[in-house]
Amino acid sequence: MKKPVITVVGSINMDLVTVAKKAPAQGETILGERFHQIPGGKGANQAVACARLGAEVHMIGAVGDDSFGSFLKQHLEKEGIHVTDVKPVTHTETGVASITISEGDNRIIVVPGANAKLTPEDVAKSEEIIAKSDMCVIQLEIPIETVEMAAKLAKKHGVNVILNPAPAQPLPSALIQSVDWLTPNEHERPIVLQHVEEKDVFEKLITTEGKKGVKIMRNGTPKQIKGFTVPVVDTTGAGDTFNGALSVALSKGMEIEDACRFANAAAALSVTKLGAQSAMPTEEAVYEFLKTKGEGE
Ligand code: RIB
Repeated sequence: MKKPVITVVGSINMDLVTVAKKAPAQGETILGERFHQIPGGKGANQAVACARLGAEVHMIGAVGDDSFGSFLKQHLEKEGIHVTDVKPVTHTETGVASITISEGDNRIIVVPGANAKLTPEDVAKSEEIIAKSDMCVIQLEIPIETVEMAAKLAKKHGVNVILNPAPAQPLPSALIQSVDWLTPNEHERPIVLQHVEEKDVFEKLITTEGKKGVKIMRNGTPKQIKGFTVPVVDTTGAGDTFNGALSVALSKGMEIEDACRFANAAAALSVTKLGAQSAMPTEEAVYEFLKTKGEGE
């Protein structure tokens, strides 16, 4: 079977991950346990998830002219991702995310750096790549005008669009209308839908609810696709793994419910290890997990 072709338009970050017993209070200094530098960024994470799950992936993004930038571009290439359209931006730092993992949860501050300089014109230069894709996957760690351009070009060429609206911001109604699937989590959902009537976009909403799984609407009726209970090490990147897996499954022609089940399984596997990209499963691992776990719990 031909590999699905997926274009991801989004952020590329270096995640600076500190593991500590607890998060420090305001004004407090504490000793942490471990520190790691792990490739991240919602765009790059979703691109890696897609590639590990068997898609041919093109990344459209931006990195700075620093050591993180060249390292991250090479790293994406090693994952088998096409990086011709990852633009190096001079006199600019690569995006970083400062992440603290404590008490089974994470706190993240993202400094966008070069991601903020990915322009609509940059995306327009990649129109041919978008046109040849089965799916275009976008998030909100790049300027909103750039997101709008990516969705517009995808629509122009009849390419399906998944918009993962994270980090959340109220979205223009025209943008929501132009995407095929919108995948907020339960906290992001009311924020991103501020300018639209929820009922008008129900059928394109896939709301992620952590280990409970996801909620979709089929023919006006809400349906829960159950998640999986697994030992949790780190939830960073679970949403990105879900979105990547969903894109691959839908691009392969899976029905939405099966696609969500596949994506739930991939996301569950991703929380059993530390980091975002460092924890993302392969296609074989997801099918193996589904064989042992069945429908979800
Ligand atoms: O979704 C997780 C990602 O959010 C991290 O990898 C971090 O870079 C931030 O973008």
